[in-house]
Amino acid sequence: MHYTHDPIFPKKFMWGASSSAWQVEGAVNEDGRSDAIIDLNSKKKKPYTDNSIAADHYHRYKEDVKLMAEAGFSSYRFSIAWPRIFPNDSGIPNQKGIDFYNNLINELIKHNIEPLVTLYHYDMPVWVDEKFNGWYDRGIIEKFDEFVRTCFKAFGDRVKYWHSINEQNMQICYGEWLGICKNKDTWFEDKWKVNHIMNMCHAKAVVACHELVEDGKIGPIPGYVPIYPYSSHPDDQIAAMNAEELTEKVWNDLYAFRKYNGFIQSYWRENNINPGIQDGDMELIAQANIDFFALNCYRSNTAKACGIDEEPQEYLLNKSGVKGNLIFPKVPGLYQLTHNPYVEYTDWDWEIDPVSMRYMLRYVWDHYQLPMMITENGLGKYDKVTDDGKVHDQDRIEFLKDQIYQVGLAIMDGCDVISYNPWSFTDILSTGNGMAKRYGLVYINTTDEEVLDLRRIPKDSYYWYANLIKSNGENWG
Ligand code: BG6
Repeated sequence: MHYTHDPIFPKKFMWGASSSAWQVEGAVNEDGRSDAIIDLNSKKKKPYTDNSIAADHYHRYKEDVKLMAEAGFSSYRFSIAWPRIFPNDSGIPNQKGIDFYNNLINELIKHNIEPLVTLYHYDMPVWVDEKFNGWYDRGIIEKFDEFVRTCFKAFGDRVKYWHSINEQNMQICYGEWLGICKNKDTWFEDKWKVNHIMNMCHAKAVVACHELVEDGKIGPIPGYVPIYPYSSHPDDQIAAMNAEELTEKVWNDLYAFRKYNGFIQSYWRENNINPGIQDGDMELIAQANIDFFALNCYRSNTAKACGIDEEPQEYLLNKSGVKGNLIFPKVPGLYQLTHNPYVEYTDWDWEIDPVSMRYMLRYVWDHYQLPMMITENGLGKYDKVTDDGKVHDQDRIEFLKDQIYQVGLAIMDGCDVISYNPWSFTDILSTGNGMAKRYGLVYINTTDEEVLDLRRIPKDSYYWYANLIKSNGENWG
């Protein structure tokens, strides 16, 4: 629909921003925290810095929450580091880890900021990885259950919004890049077994949240990349639907309808894949009734038909930050992704496409009719402090303005959206590009090459966003 006025946001809309433990906290060996697999992986991504200090949020959370409060935040999405709560397999939680999150949650609540808490955002403890070969062994299901139950009991009196697993679909689709694939040669089949085990962990978290948290609500966080057909050729339309299934819909249907959809069952049959479903599993999944979808959305993709005789091509993400280094995937017989001539691209070749935000919200609402919150959305770019001591990130302001406007339009279109939390509050470590690829509303004064004073410098986008949210989405600046 076309509107003759700016969008109107609901009165109780929650405005905030987002982070994840391993990317923001630092203090990786303090107060009993043990190593996470992602710590070790971050050390391999040279020339970028690792996560041992990150934004030093572990020591500076009070200062960070104060900045959130000054900007008028009503929500903050963060994650809990599993190795801080269970540094080893003793079954005894680490009180100092619990204390840290208690303090953070209390600080947020003191400033009327609703905590939106993610249980798993890539920081699997090394001991879990060693014992269960990552997500490959079903033994992890009980350990995950132990971890989430501990979190619900410790924080559930104050935390009412929970997320199970961050971007399970992305972890499966890009298993090597995100470090969960253990054997490239067998990943084509293994990924569905691993995925089923993750689904069981998700289901355990949903069931336990409803059991242990009074008025607790929980949802998954798919990484969402809306897919457009390249042309009106019917084959391109089916290719776009295939891509949608194999990168998103298979997961979202499972979360919402609590069973594997017909597409994936047929795909497994045709490819002789055994996803490792055991007796009783689907009964547990059937009980895992989610309350909302949390959505991470940065970009869109475009798909076209791919002949069965084409050579397969892996998705090679741009890791250099120099435009033109991304290679789109080809999945013979199903789809290939391709360049979209109608949108701009970031230095990392991510589509800049605000309309995809409205498209995604409409799509998810139409399919699942569940409330939605945005847990990630943002522009990764090079930022620098200028001679006046400030960070002038006008391009990020334009990016956020366009994206948030589309959230507003989706709300006007009838979608139930309850919160918007861009990535990220402060600069954090990017998954592959250290501090070089910055997303924050607040600059962290440090670089990949040397650790500086980690001073917080609110960027121009921070001030712009504060004005917008203090007016509940009326003052576009
Ligand atoms: C999301 C992840 O997929 O994308 C974040 O949940 C991540 O952890 C963000 O940082 C941006 O990706 P990147 O690779 O630019 O850090």
